[in-house]
Amino acid sequence: RTIHILNGPNLNLLGQREPEIYGSDTLDQIEQRCQARAAERGIALTFCQTNSEGTLVDHIHRARGEGADIIINAAAYTHTSVAVLDALKTCDGLQVIELHLSNPHRREPFRHHSFVSAAATGVIAGFGAQGYLMALDALAR
Ligand code: DQA
Repeated sequence: RTIHILNGPNLNLLGQREPEIYGSDTLDQIEQRCQARAAERGIALTFCQTNSEGTLVDHIHRARGEGADIIINAAAYTHTSVAVLDALKTCDGLQVIELHLSNPHRREPFRHHSFVSAAATGVIAGFGAQGYLMALDALAR
């Protein structure tokens, strides 16, 4: 069983970036917790982050090639990227969880639309860093 956790732009600055919205945990700390949880569940986990849209598309293709389920926090590309949506649509047969630390629906109107949702099995949003472990547990079932 393989799962890829893909993180989009600005998430490398987690912990420093608007901590009142995104919390004080760093992406490294979140990855460590995810790796520990995956090991407990016998899951092979790939965890990555990129600031560029094309590289995020490449990461989705890589998960598809490995037959891996996907947990994706596409960050701002959630709201802008048809390319990310189209890439996710090539992953049929694989589970895709859309993840957000914050709840975009209680924020600015431009965050209310998600291109990712149209290709997602389910969505986890608003639970902060804990959402990553919730998503892993949801797929481990
Ligand atoms: C985010 C929400 C997005 O609206 C925002 O652009 C992000 C992070 C979240 O995890 O809450 O960068 O995906």
